[in-house]
Amino acid sequence: MASSNCLADHYQRALRADEVLTQIDTHYPTGPTLRQLAPLDQLHIGGMAASNRLLARLDPATHPRVLDIGAGLGGLMRLGASLGFQMTGLDITHGFSALNQALTTRVKLPNSPPLAWVTGNASALPFADNCLDAVLFQHSLLNMPDPAKVIAQSHRVLRPGGQLVMHEIISGPNVAQLRYPVPWAATPEHSHLLTLTALTDLLQAGGFTIEHVDDWSDTALAWRQQQRQKEQTPRQAILSPQWVFGEQFLSMGKHLVTNLTQRAIKVVEIHVSC
Ligand SMILES: C[S@@+](CC[C@H](N)C(=O)[O-])C[C@H]1O[C@@H](n2cnc3c(N)ncnc32)[C@H](O)[C@@H]1O
Repeated sequence: MASSNCLADHYQRALRADEVLTQIDTHYPTGPTLRQLAPLDQLHIGGMAASNRLLARLDPATHPRVLDIGAGLGGLMRLGASLGFQMTGLDITHGFSALNQALTTRVKLPNSPPLAWVTGNASALPFADNCLDAVLFQHSLLNMPDPAKVIAQSHRVLRPGGQLVMHEIISGPNVAQLRYPVPWAATPEHSHLLTLTALTDLLQAGGFTIEHVDDWSDTALAWRQQQRQKEQTPRQAILSPQWVFGEQFLSMGKHLVTNLTQRAIKVVEIHVSC
């Protein structure tokens, strides 16, 4: 429990939730588009394109009930809802869940199914057995010290034929050189990166069948380098990850580039089914 509280502290320490909402209301008085929110609410490498890619692996006609585990500020949830998925977001950081909801009230999502939010822990999912069609992880398993338990919980809540899709950071061959802070951890304490083999072994041991594994570290590096150039341009962006992570994001963003370049980390997309 103490460790979960500390993780929420990591994400909430510099979060300026009220100021974010004022900034949005001032600059986007008729409501922001998903693209305008993306620099704030797509807190992963690859931005909105990565979320589109992940959701494209699912069909809302056959797999409508989707749980986003570690939903953060909800970029993936709102994109999923705009595509017709019934999105529920679970996050251990209550400040994120609250801002996620407040952001959603400001976005126009005509004809989208309603969204739902739960503050909770992925290792004890507060959902019934077999009640979901799909589970997503986007840069969230990387914070979890008990991946086998989390994978078992995901399998439990999925119905037979359910799908699990993840867009995660894993450890690369030079993980010992990983530089901190990174967005998911200021120190090694909250970083729980697995090797690709360890992760796919855990998924299979948890009852999943591997459908697809894609290492897109090179694309991730190109995207991050592009972002980094923008971050160094002296221009005041309306929204940026700095509203969440504060000034420390400049070091975090720089370290992401270094960690990808030095192969301390890799970025993968993994799709498995029950
Ligand atoms: C790097 S952020 C990514 C947020 C979001 N998925 C995104 O890509 O924009 C990781 C998120 O996972 C959440 N998280 C970490 N461990 C968790 C756990 N055990 N249960 C639920 N959420 C967790 C954190 O609170 C945080 O919001």
